[in-house]
Amino acid sequence: MIRYYLFFIALLAVNSSNAQEDNSSNKGLLNLINEDFKDADAQYKFFKTQIPLNELPRTLDEKGKLVTSGSAWWCSGFYPGTLLYLYENSKDTVLYNEAIRRLKLLEKEQYNKTTHDLGFMMYCSFGHANRLKANEKYKQILINSAKSLSDRFDPRVGCIRSWDSKKSSEFLVIIDNMMNLELLFYATKITGDSSYYKIAVSHADVTMKNHFRPDYSSYHLVDYNPETGETNVKRTHQGVADESSWARGQGWALYGYTTMYRETKDKKYLDFANNIANFILNHPNLPADKIPYWDFNAPEVPNALRDASAGSLIASALIELAGYNKGNVSKKYLGVARQIIKTLSTKEYKAVVGTNGGFLLKHSVGSMPHKSEIDVPLTYADYYYTEALLRYKNLIK
Ligand code: GLY
Repeated sequence: MIRYYLFFIALLAVNSSNAQEDNSSNKGLLNLINEDFKDADAQYKFFKTQIPLNELPRTLDEKGKLVTSGSAWWCSGFYPGTLLYLYENSKDTVLYNEAIRRLKLLEKEQYNKTTHDLGFMMYCSFGHANRLKANEKYKQILINSAKSLSDRFDPRVGCIRSWDSKKSSEFLVIIDNMMNLELLFYATKITGDSSYYKIAVSHADVTMKNHFRPDYSSYHLVDYNPETGETNVKRTHQGVADESSWARGQGWALYGYTTMYRETKDKKYLDFANNIANFILNHPNLPADKIPYWDFNAPEVPNALRDASAGSLIASALIELAGYNKGNVSKKYLGVARQIIKTLSTKEYKAVVGTNGGFLLKHSVGSMPHKSEIDVPLTYADYYYTEALLRYKNLIK
């Protein structure tokens, strides 16, 4: 009996010292995140002065000069989206007003039926603007965007077409497309029309069946036969090889199925997201600082370039997924997310205010095979980094 009590007291002592450790490391992390936000506010105020009035930032060229885009580029929503996350944290209206001003450039994209990227473009921008201050006009823009996106759904395949193709025998779907489904769930919530929800579920289920290997790694692209819905071919577009695991694609998959679980509460998506997380976190080529190489199978590993955009989006997804799990699984996800935040907040990745053209992070990779945007800042790296900071801060503040 005495032995039992001693064991119980020892357990309490261990638990309380674990809790103390957790508290003090959370305090340290909170300080770091607050410092990151302070720098990010200053950096995005500098960024604002660098961007021509009617354009949106994209990246830097080899000479460090800002490359911009119009509103039709798939990344057009990330700059206003990041500003809105920063505003959400600091309530600094300079950031808010800049976001709202740039949103005007994007309005016309609500009718764009030539892209599957409307979720990225419109939900990561207008979605936040409307979430922070409900606005009928933004709601309508989001509904119209969901309509345009739904137009690309083909019931014979059960998917939204990602890219148009000149060949009528092709129906191209990329794993990135999972990220555009959140917009459809929102449209069902706001209109009561379940067709958007059904399209999202169908797309996720067909993708689950065809886009993944037995180890839960994902192909980048699946080409379907549009008549039969059978798969023609599975290949890469931005990875090193058809059978490789392009890092950002694994991140899109993780984030996408985490969102599917949030929106449907169907446990099969939670299990699937956990399996994808296991693939990523247990991969022998995931570096100790947890920022992935641009492709898990890049032949230059361990000297391959890292992709900060993959790191930031994986961190953000893991923080949400941790909330749907318990115990050690949840702890493990939060531990990796912390590590990613810590690494991205070092001077290796985080730019000094007033440098890096105004972007927060350095060292992302757009598309290695196309020799495009290699080892540069990218708006979506900043967006998911800021989202991860905010998500973690909300857990521990
Ligand atoms: N969605 C395009 C990319 O991840 O590069």
